[in-house]
Amino acid sequence: MRGITKRFPGGVIANDHVDFDLYPGEVHALLGENGAGKTTLMNILYGLYTKDEGEVYVDGKRVEIRSPKDAIRLGIGMVHQQFKLIPRHTVLENVVLGLREAGFVLNYRSLREMLVSTIREYGWNLDPDAYVWQLTASQKQQVEILKLLVRKARVLILDEPTSILTPQETTQLFESIRSMAAQGMGVVLVTHKLEEVMRVCDRVTVMRRGRVVAVRRREELNAEELVTLMVGRSIDQTYRVTVRPRDERVLEVRNLRVLDDRGAVAVKDVSFHVMKGEVFGIAGVSGNGQDELLEAIYGLRKAVSGKVYLNGRDVTNLPTWELVKQGVAMIVPEAVKGVGLGLTVAENLLLKCYRYEPFSRWGILKRKLMEESAKELVEQLKIVTRSVTARASTLSGGNLQRLIIARELFANPSRRLPVLLLASHPTKGLDVAATDYVRRLILGVRDSGAGVILLSDDLEELIALSDRIGVMYKGELLAVLEKERAEIETIGMLMMGVRPGGP
Ligand SMILES: Nc1ncnc2c1ncn2[C@@H]1O[C@H](COP(=O)(O)OP(=O)(O)O)[C@@H](O)[C@H]1O
Ligand SMILES: [Mg+2]
Repeated sequence: MRGITKRFPGGVIANDHVDFDLYPGEVHALLGENGAGKTTLMNILYGLYTKDEGEVYVDGKRVEIRSPKDAIRLGIGMVHQQFKLIPRHTVLENVVLGLREAGFVLNYRSLREMLVSTIREYGWNLDPDAYVWQLTASQKQQVEILKLLVRKARVLILDEPTSILTPQETTQLFESIRSMAAQGMGVVLVTHKLEEVMRVCDRVTVMRRGRVVAVRRREELNAEELVTLMVGRSIDQTYRVTVRPRDERVLEVRNLRVLDDRGAVAVKDVSFHVMKGEVFGIAGVSGNGQDELLEAIYGLRKAVSGKVYLNGRDVTNLPTWELVKQGVAMIVPEAVKGVGLGLTVAENLLLKCYRYEPFSRWGILKRKLMEESAKELVEQLKIVTRSVTARASTLSGGNLQRLIIARELFANPSRRLPVLLLASHPTKGLDVAATDYVRRLILGVRDSGAGVILLSDDLEELIALSDRIGVMYKGELLAVLEKERAEIETIGMLMMGVRPGGP
């Protein structure tokens, strides 16, 4: 692609003279923050958008791609962030429909065989006769990829494919991508995640504000440089610990036993404490009891035995609203789904405390007070909005994230910072800038003297933010490491149930 320019009504230049090359056999990351113009560029390549300027060449020949049909004929396929499958149809039927739309003639039997062998080749767990509504997000994505493979696509564009995947599914997808490249396909991995670039790519094109700011080969990759290129400024990724934990416990958990949804023991008599001004990280392969532990502390799940003390007071099995009142806050990755887009910024911010005084007395809401409080929060948290009475739907994605986090942090009626923050995968799915924002917010809460429990699949994040790290394995807290001893290898072994120096 040469000199591609695309303007949208309203003066946005989504692509500004963009050059992009893809070789056969390479995995090429298109990296950039939200809004950088990645999807636009790929939509142009796939014939969904018409470019205002520039040229596209396939195999050295200039082509005009006016629709996805043209793209498909040229061997270009794209999997969008939103899937285009028909839930009531089977995998096979969906693939057939895809082929038909693209004008291919087909034979059910040979197609079926092809699907079966392709699925086997990539080691996927997918039944051609399963209905799409029965499938996991990862399997649906596999169907979308199959639709392209059966058309013999040579160029495969995946737009933010891992945003819906678990870490294990991501690993599997990356393996598939690598083997597609090994067969000579060119794969474009559209992403805002640096880590993915470092993991699977042969080359990366970095975009910022509609422009290409760098193209790098694998050997030249340097994570820090990429971040700087991406966000246009350098982010201090080390988050140095500035405050020594004070010698006072905000949370004490003793012999806590918690069951999972099926009634099996998820947390096995776990004991630990969190100091004021400390981040206590919890590492573990997901499903080893971490979630249940946090839920029990937050009153979302009953503990069957054991005790939880908050500032020395027994708070075991208290309801969540009571814990919130005592200063416990929780942020979860799915929180963003809980935003009321039709509500105003102020209403969203105070969603969890408007029922209490001072915002409400004898059932009467005090709007003015709510708005004033909301204004303070908006300022404190640097949320960009026209006004606190604007609807949440008018905010950009990043500001929406901030809004949610602010809401969770200040969910108590006195709008004080929490004394204990439970942060469950708080940066999952966020772009670099939002991740940075959330990490700093967590450290800010810590610096205010609160205790923080941090759950994260990202070990580097855990190590960067935590003062101590506990590792959970099969419901047990296998070890608690001081920051100095917390190395990725050690934690990784413990996560697999291997104690250092043990048998
Ligand atoms: N259909 C559209 N109409 C108007 N503006 C759009 C449209 N699609 C994208 N944009 C704008 O173009 C810019 C780039 O968006 P996009 O290509 O989706 O970025 P990315 O995929 O890198 O997040 C953004 O400012 C976005 O708001
Ligand atoms: Mg996009």
